[in-house]
Amino acid sequence: MVDANLMEKIVSLCKRRGFVFPGSEIYGGLAGTFDYGPYGVVLKENIERLWLSMFRDSRDDMYGVDAAILMNPKVWEASGHVQTFADPMADGKMFNTMFKTSAGAGEEAITVYLRPETAGGIFANFKNVVDSIHPKLPFGIAQIGKAFRNEIAPRDFIFRLRELSQMEVEYFVKPGEWQQAFEEWRKMMHLFAEAVGIPQGTIHELEVPESDRAHYSKRTIDFEFEYPFGRKELWGLAYRGDFDLSAHTKASTVDLSYLDEETSGRFIPHVIEPSLGVDRTILAILVSAYREDELGGETRTYLALAPKIAPVKAAVFPLLKNKPELVAKAREVYFSLKSQVPSIQYDDNGNIGKRYRRQDEIGTPFCITIDFDTLGPSSSSGQANLKDTVTLRHRDTGSQERLAIPEVSARLREAIL
Ligand code: GAP
Repeated sequence: MVDANLMEKIVSLCKRRGFVFPGSEIYGGLAGTFDYGPYGVVLKENIERLWLSMFRDSRDDMYGVDAAILMNPKVWEASGHVQTFADPMADGKMFNTMFKTSAGAGEEAITVYLRPETAGGIFANFKNVVDSIHPKLPFGIAQIGKAFRNEIAPRDFIFRLRELSQMEVEYFVKPGEWQQAFEEWRKMMHLFAEAVGIPQGTIHELEVPESDRAHYSKRTIDFEFEYPFGRKELWGLAYRGDFDLSAHTKASTVDLSYLDEETSGRFIPHVIEPSLGVDRTILAILVSAYREDELGGETRTYLALAPKIAPVKAAVFPLLKNKPELVAKAREVYFSLKSQVPSIQYDDNGNIGKRYRRQDEIGTPFCITIDFDTLGPSSSSGQANLKDTVTLRHRDTGSQERLAIPEVSARLREAIL
């Protein structure tokens, strides 16, 4: 059953636990902007790193760029955004949603736009990549970065923002070979959803009819997700044909055709574009991971995040923080684990119940407790056969097991790889 207050609960957890804060909050906020806090920023980085690994680094036909957000305004004239990137206002008039600013001082100043999609920086660098790397078709260029849209009605937390992050690929193919690439990237997007913990059953493909497609697209599939406020676009996969490279060739008068060495023929490559919004991905992950259950007679909230993307992989506790021998051993275990597995946290705030509650809400998959048994018979109550063992608690079930210290890091690495 859908929890009517789920969005409210997620927004509140994000604020309470340091994932996402309203932008400029001390001044009353700024609509359509949010800031990622200490855990949110690591979650975001983990998602982006996984995307880079799957969409760029594990392949031998993919390259990266990190293009400037400010571009010559002719880019957006050629791409059609100046003319058509507009939404209707309440009175029916069209409103162009690109943010304008100016570059340069005084009479030299020119109007420039904050990029509305990262794709523009990829197309503008197509020739640079071809001339410097000499890739053979098919190949693609991947980029992660900010994009800006002056949305008329920003809403639904980090779903519809005015400042957002995109993870985009422009994949260049021979004109007759687009269908195969389209299918490959379609599969890859489903694999990525699975890897970040968005269940397959909650994603629905929508074949976008021509009348609703962006001006550059010949075919688009929207990947929709069941958000608590309705089934809405999470990601898009578009076949942009030769629209962009042809338009930029014409407007810049720089030839962006590709020379096929086998046939010595020149042509404008066609483009497949998987485009994934980072913020909408984060929201879909939070919606998928949010859980409430009963544990030890109490209601608890936890985030069942995939260990791969969880901001904290494990938290190490001393059972009691006022026993120096427990603290010393816990610090030792913490430093040793941290040197092998990143994102380990030391936590001795409040009692152990409070620590579990906090780590559950952050989505930490494992908690490791150092108790008197860890210290062995030299301590007041330690058992000889349990010396140098710790308890490992599993987030989703709350179950605990006793493990020798050297086994713990192997267990953690197994879960996060
Ligand atoms: N280059 C293609 C492109 O930008 P789009 O469908 O307009 O296509 C791609 O945007 C993705 O960017 C969307 O599927 C969504 O994930 C994200 N996105 C777009 N507008 C957004 C907004 N206002 N707030 C948050 N994410 C947004």
